[in-house]
Amino acid sequence: MKQDIRILAIESSCDETSAAICENGKILSNYIAGQAVHEQYGGVVPELASRAHMQNIVPVVHAALQAAGKQLTDMDAIAFTQAPGLIGSLLVGGQFAKSLALALDKPLIAVHHMQAHVLANLIEDPQPEFPFLCLTVSGGHTQIVLAHSPLHLEVLGETIDDAAGEAFDKTAKLLGLPYPGGPLVDKYAQTGNPKAFTFAEPQIPELNFSFSGLKTSVLYFLQAQTKANPQFVSENVADLCASVQHTIINILLKKVKKAVQQTGIKRICIAGGVSANSGLRNRLKEMGEQQGWQTFIPSFQYCTDNAGMIAITAYHQYLGGKFVTLDVGPSARSEW
Ligand code: KG4
Ligand code: ZN
Repeated sequence: MKQDIRILAIESSCDETSAAICENGKILSNYIAGQAVHEQYGGVVPELASRAHMQNIVPVVHAALQAAGKQLTDMDAIAFTQAPGLIGSLLVGGQFAKSLALALDKPLIAVHHMQAHVLANLIEDPQPEFPFLCLTVSGGHTQIVLAHSPLHLEVLGETIDDAAGEAFDKTAKLLGLPYPGGPLVDKYAQTGNPKAFTFAEPQIPELNFSFSGLKTSVLYFLQAQTKANPQFVSENVADLCASVQHTIINILLKKVKKAVQQTGIKRICIAGGVSANSGLRNRLKEMGEQQGWQTFIPSFQYCTDNAGMIAITAYHQYLGGKFVTLDVGPSARSEW
């Protein structure tokens, strides 16, 4: 009986082209190519993202294989991100994966990007035992997920409008910072006072979130302040970043606390691009210590979009016999 299971996974849902190699659930390589082309436009331009994926995909797959010391013929399955995402971006990775599966005569595995963000917590040690809760915070999603098992995830709550990542990116834009603004807000916030300015937190029922009001209140606040002092933003950028970040983290962690109360589960993971935020990481850790939770925080390379998380998810799908046929298509929608 064959013992080793080796998977090549491809992620191309937005503006990162990434490939990873996984062997028996261990990530051997995780190569990520970003796309600087979008910076000048203040956001991801879908058409340009697809073109960049086309240029990147072959060298990225080669780089992942080389870093793992493996060849295409060593692979037992090919995995790709099927949904959700930009349709043109998903098409590039999906079509490439299908072509490889066909040429190599290997099974094909279609992975859901948001499920993969959650399972990024299974890549490194210590790993959470099931069931656990995961706060998944990315550029397009904000969810509290109850993970019953690797292939059985339940969304307990989610945003009713903007995602947490959008709240970072949109307020950064108001402050004149380039896209993606999240990492820059994080950087400036480190030298700012989080209590310098207060922004209202929305009262949203259950475990759902809302972030569109925050963006509007930051906008009105800045308009009023710059009328009195045109230099207000540049003179206060660190305090503004720290205060906005503090508000976003408050909104997120209050719901995590509520989810723990409702489910009684005290194993808490975070996932998605915003989980790279140093303020969120620190405050979740602190809160975990105060509340007696076990907290799990992936290393940076597994927080933002990466194929390592697609590979670990594909490994569990392989074990569960969850394959797709070559007529599979991408899906821009986010249903699980
Ligand atoms: O998961 P991700 O890489 O892509 C999506 O699936 O959306 O998340 C991207 C989001 C962007 O909104 C970006 O600004 C945010 O994650 N982000 C951060 C940080 N690093 C990335 N937000 C706050 N602090 C960070 N350090
Ligand atoms: Zn993502």
